[in-house]
Amino acid sequence: MNWLSDNVNLLALIGAAVIIILVVFVVGKYIKQMKHDKGSGELMSDNWDGIGEYKNPLPIGWSLSFIGTIIWAIWYFLVGYPLNSYSQIGEYNKEVAEHNARFENKWANPDKDTLMGMGKGIFLVQCAPCHGVLGDGMDAKSADLTYWGGEDAVVEAILKGVKGSHYPLEEMPAGLLDEASAKAVTAFMMKEINVKKSTKNPDLVETGRPLWATCSACHGEDGKGMGGMSADISQYGTPEFIANVLNLGKKGLIGDMPKFTDDRLTKVQKLAVGTYIQSLRQ
Ligand code: HEC
Ligand code: HEC
Repeated sequence: MNWLSDNVNLLALIGAAVIIILVVFVVGKYIKQMKHDKGSGELMSDNWDGIGEYKNPLPIGWSLSFIGTIIWAIWYFLVGYPLNSYSQIGEYNKEVAEHNARFENKWANPDKDTLMGMGKGIFLVQCAPCHGVLGDGMDAKSADLTYWGGEDAVVEAILKGVKGSHYPLEEMPAGLLDEASAKAVTAFMMKEINVKKSTKNPDLVETGRPLWATCSACHGEDGKGMGGMSADISQYGTPEFIANVLNLGKKGLIGDMPKFTDDRLTKVQKLAVGTYIQSLRQ
């Protein structure tokens, strides 16, 4: 780094040099004075073990700056930062919010290509550190997103349970059904409840239909999660579901996924990254 290329640095360096020179000069002067001068003037009446104190008037400059500091402190408290609450952090947040609003406006109606491009960029920066560049969860360090969202993942969720996003119903217990029933109810869910409306096991749909009661107890007859009580699995696997997980965050067995609130990723950005993740599975 070139120290002299920056005006502020240069000014600070000159200031530091001036202070050092002044300190050396003043200290030198007083040390000399202490060596040679004899005290003179009127002594105060008190003395401590023979050591007295001169009656010196307060220096005018010192008194003025002392009073000035008190006035400045009162001004600073009442008009300056603490009470009128201006802060650089506040200004920064405001500017970010303005920028996000402009961004949201600009991309109000993004087409699929825009979402994919935007989503890939966001994924590589915000998600890949935990989910891996390929989205495969890097040997189970976090959710494998090429697998999550598909039917096998639903079966696994039923067998192993799900928790971590802190819905009011908190958790889906493990082992609600055995594997064969889990497969069947998943086929029913994907065909009839989920927006995907298709399953890779169409022959199991009717076997799964009566088992849906096990699920609708918590997810509602329509699977929409009973107004936020549990996950809206009619949207399972979609960008909307992913956006919701991002809003809630997830405490996993292997680590925590932070909440991506709207100031961190805007709604369009969440939709975009969800669209990109959905494409990893197809
Ligand atoms: C006791 C209540 C309860 C029951 C019964 C229940 N669930 Fe859930 N389910 C939940 C809750 C709560 C969540 C959200 C957990 C979280 O993400 O924190 C959830 C999440 C899910 C998810 C999302 C998984 C993920 O990876 O995000 C799927 C899919 C699901 N449930 C399917 C089912 C199916 C199918 C059934 C029926 C066999 C069922 N659930 C029964 C409470 C329940
Ligand atoms: C700090 C690490 C971390 C980051 C960053 C992160 N995740 Fe996650 N993610 C996790 C963990 C841990 C889980 C939960 C795994 C589990 O179920 O135990 C998870 C789960 C998920 C799930 C499955 C949700 C469910 O209901 O099971 C999705 C979808 C997801 N992440 C998407 C994303 C997206 C999109 C991003 C980027 C915007 C992201 N994640 C960033 C750690 C992270």
